[in-house]
Order: sequence, then structure tokens, then C-alpha cells
Amino acid sequence: MKNFISVNDVADIDALVAKALDFKANPLTSQALGSNKRIGLLFLNPSMRTRLSTQIAAENLGMKVIVFNVGQDGWALEFEDEAIMSGNTVEHVKDAAPIMGKYFDVLGIRTFPSLQNKVDDYSELYINQFIKYAGIPVLSLESATLHPLQSLTDIITIRETFREKRKPKIVLTWAPHVKALPQCVANSFSQWINAWGESDFVITHPEDYELDEKFTKGASIELDQKKALKDADFVYVKNWSTYTDYGRIYCNDPSWMLTNDKLQLTNNAKVMHCLPVRRNVELSDEILDGANSVVTRQASNRVWAAQAVLHELLTNKL
Ligand code: CP
Repeated sequence: MKNFISVNDVADIDALVAKALDFKANPLTSQALGSNKRIGLLFLNPSMRTRLSTQIAAENLGMKVIVFNVGQDGWALEFEDEAIMSGNTVEHVKDAAPIMGKYFDVLGIRTFPSLQNKVDDYSELYINQFIKYAGIPVLSLESATLHPLQSLTDIITIRETFREKRKPKIVLTWAPHVKALPQCVANSFSQWINAWGESDFVITHPEDYELDEKFTKGASIELDQKKALKDADFVYVKNWSTYTDYGRIYCNDPSWMLTNDKLQLTNNAKVMHCLPVRRNVELSDEILDGANSVVTRQASNRVWAAQAVLHELLTNKL
């Protein structure tokens, strides 16, 4: 059985990107593949883009879609094996997941990290329990440490907007935020860009904001944001909370926010963000509303990323 949880589930990133771009050109070419197939999209946490784009992608493939806001409408799930369920949890994933495996052909799951317990979060307990007990392919709609559909979308967007023969310089820059956010988008982007190998990849962040090396190995780390931005072709902006001293906010320095002045240091870089974004905290109005922002294109490409992955899952190629 095959799942889509990380870049490690993908044999050929460029082929998957090409498939997504084919679907972008011709969305309805594989409508027969998903007819009589049903996908369940389970949300333990909020979403707009992932929910809508995955639903559209599944429908483009002829699938029926059921969205279930487990976090709001479902029984509180227990994920620990051998738990004595005398607390707030009502149903064990061991009982719930096999039932979903009977209702659906593919199961998509969004589950955020606690940011309280690094060991549990980084073991991907929740999504792995669904994989263990559902018995059908599981598609990550963002898990505790990774967001693979977002990262595939990001590479699709880079691929279709960069036309030069050389490798682009891609900079992932930390940005300020008022809340402690997961590391998953930054982890996943790093993991995919490193695995793709088609860029000069630099990560910049304040001191003590190192991500897990398991994802960043292969990138250059530069703590001076201005140095990092020099000659960049793409700047990916994202906040994350601290990894080592887990889930903390050490820095909220507004000087880390990307502005047009800083963009002058780049090679007229395209600016990326996964959204949602807090305007004038994480990214300035002038950048988001300016000509260099590709955030809407990025979000629209979520449909084609999801469609390519679902196509692979349905044809069991992943
Ligand atoms: N980027 C992203 O995953 O957006 P949503 O949280 O709205 O799905």
C-alpha cells in the first residue's frame, strides 16, 4: 500500500511536476480514473486552500469527496496505543480508522503538531496511526512536521516561473509572527528543495531558529538575512517557532519582515508564501500587493499538485 506523506514517497519529482502541469493545461483528461472511487478529507485543524484545492482535484479525477471536520464535528480521537481512555478522548483511532478504510478508497488527513511535545510531534504519531489502521492509501493534507502537497506546489510554481538554463537561487527566510507556528512548511520546503537538487538553496533565520537538520541538510545556512538575499531568484517567506527548545518564540524582530528595500538585493526575486499570511507582520503590503509576489499563483497551483498526487495514488505508482 502506498501513501503520500513526504518527498520520500516520490520516485521522480520532475515527473510529478510535469504531470501536475499537464493537468493544469488539461484538467479533465483522467475523469474515468476516479469514477466509483471516494476520498475522505479529514480535518483535525482549520484549512482553506488545502480543503478546497484537494476537493477540486479529486472531482477533476471523477472522484466523490466527503469532507469531515473531525476536530469540530467528530468524536475526540485517542492516538496512543494501549491508552486507558478515562479522560477526554472518546474513540480510539484503532477503531475509527478501519471504518474509514471501508468507507473510502483514499483518506486525506490534516493534523497539526501540539508544539508541546517534540517527541510525539516528530514521530508523526497521528498520521502514522491512520496509516497503520486505515488499510487504504493516506494522503497528508499537512501533518505535524511536513506539508508535502504545499512543497510540491512550491516546486511547480518555481518550475513554471523560472525560464533560465541555470539553477535558480532559492532563499527560505524566517519572518516574524505573533504566534508560535509549526515548522512543517519550512521543514517540508527544505526537504523537497534539497531532494529536487535543482537550485542553490539558502536558509536564513535568527539565531536559535535552526530547523531539524534531517530536513535542511544540503542547504547553506546564513544568519545574515541581507547576505542571504543577495542575487536570489526566489524568496520563500515563512515563520516558524523554535525547534531545539521546542515551540517557542525567541524573536519577534520586525526588521526580519521582507520589504521592497530588501528585495532590491535580490535578482528581482519572486516572493512566495504558503498562506495564510499576517499582513505587515510576516509580510508587508508592498510585497504582497507588488509585482514580485506569486502567492496567488502558488495557491492556485495547489489544485494541480493534489491532482497529480491523487492520480499517482489511484494508479498505485507512488
Ligand atoms: N497553505 C495551506 O495549506 O493553506 P490552508 O491552511 O488554508 O489549507
